[in-house]
Amino acid sequence: MATVAIVGAGHVGVVYAAGLAELGHTVRVVDIDAGRVARLRRGDVWFHEPGLGELLARGVDRARITFTTDYREALLGARFAFICVPTPSTADGALDDRMIRAALEAIRANLDGVTPIVVNKSTVPIGSGDLAREMLREAAIHVVSNPEFLAEGRALEDFFHPSRIVIGASDRAAADEVAALYAGVDAPILFMDNASAEFTKLAANSFLALKVSFANALARLSEAVGADVDAVAQAISLDPRIGPGHLRAGLGFGGSCLPKDVAAMAHVARTYDANPELFAAVQRINVEQRRRVVSHLTDRLGSLDGRRVALLGLAFKAGTDDVRDSPGLALALELLERRADLAVYDPLVRMDVTSNGFRARAVASALAAARGADALVLATDWPEFAHLDLVNLRRAMSGAVLVDGRGLVSPVDATRAGFDYFGFGRGGRPRD
Ligand code: UGA
Repeated sequence: MATVAIVGAGHVGVVYAAGLAELGHTVRVVDIDAGRVARLRRGDVWFHEPGLGELLARGVDRARITFTTDYREALLGARFAFICVPTPSTADGALDDRMIRAALEAIRANLDGVTPIVVNKSTVPIGSGDLAREMLREAAIHVVSNPEFLAEGRALEDFFHPSRIVIGASDRAAADEVAALYAGVDAPILFMDNASAEFTKLAANSFLALKVSFANALARLSEAVGADVDAVAQAISLDPRIGPGHLRAGLGFGGSCLPKDVAAMAHVARTYDANPELFAAVQRINVEQRRRVVSHLTDRLGSLDGRRVALLGLAFKAGTDDVRDSPGLALALELLERRADLAVYDPLVRMDVTSNGFRARAVASALAAARGADALVLATDWPEFAHLDLVNLRRAMSGAVLVDGRGLVSPVDATRAGFDYFGFGRGGRPRD
């Protein structure tokens, strides 16, 4: 079993700490944020990830996980140094690697005789493996690119049962050592060079984003030709060459990964003038979805100034309390900018949404949001929103507009309950 230093106690770092400890390794997590480290030491995981708190506590109880702000302490005797720091977007869509560089610099300054294999888990600009190798050249350290494919809300499932493990390295022995860390995880391991591994991550997330935007493009056309996009998506998804995931039409993709990674891919495509329009279209279609909601509401209600809108869902998807780049949150801000009187309910996210002095009311239930509302908008695919008591909601509202931004409600049930229903790609014959 190995000793692993993990640099960065964010979502990825903490999941990897818990997962690697469960596989039997000793893990030392280092983060420059002392508050974060203190919370983790108390067993306080501040974000929602099913099962993570328990697994982390197990690792800590077995003395396999410790947390520190001291790089030297984390690296002492470590065979691996996992880099799990954020790479936000720059203004032009490129990935900002400043935190990667800072982490590498801190590793370099605190080696104290150890030569760990540096394992890059962060989503990085292509060529970061070379950059890291160059920065650590004097210490003759191997750099392995080993991107993560964890989806929020199911990160532990993805850790223990990944669809694949991708290992990019120029040194086969280092690659094999990293592969051995995952002994006990049943998944195909793909060996390649660093740049290919780095690019795989961008390619995977961009393709997921492309599927979502494709579904949304189909939705718009379905409305025009009188088809039902869910039926079409289901029918095409049974072809194994197409596959089932990420074909749900709706308000579009959000979160900390897909928007950022497709922006990074678009930046690479622009840099090399290689089909940039493909990725630009994925981004444009995505943003259009929320605009279509706003224009539907204006179409039905006229000016939104002072109109009461109930927005259900702020998290970027069900199963998480994450609002980073959330389509629901972006929609809330657009509605506030149009001076709508907004009430917001999310099962996990209780936050005040404010814009230019306007504030949305955070309420404790869907019904509370609906009271007196002119329009109801479903923005996140929470399962409970698929089982709303539509008749009750309609009675509580003063208007009848329902925008189903995630295809959760049957148009027939909604119409029966007295709603004026709109759902993406559901403008054709209503289904039962
Ligand atoms: C995504 C990838 O799915 C993971 O494989 C990857 O490891 C992760 O990014 C990452 O790079 O760290 P995640 O951000 O958790 O995971 O979100 P997804 O489950 O991919 O959903 C992204 C967005 O697309 C959400 O807003 C979701 O509501 C939307 N979506 C998803 C749709 O609109 N339609 C769909 O059919 C599926």
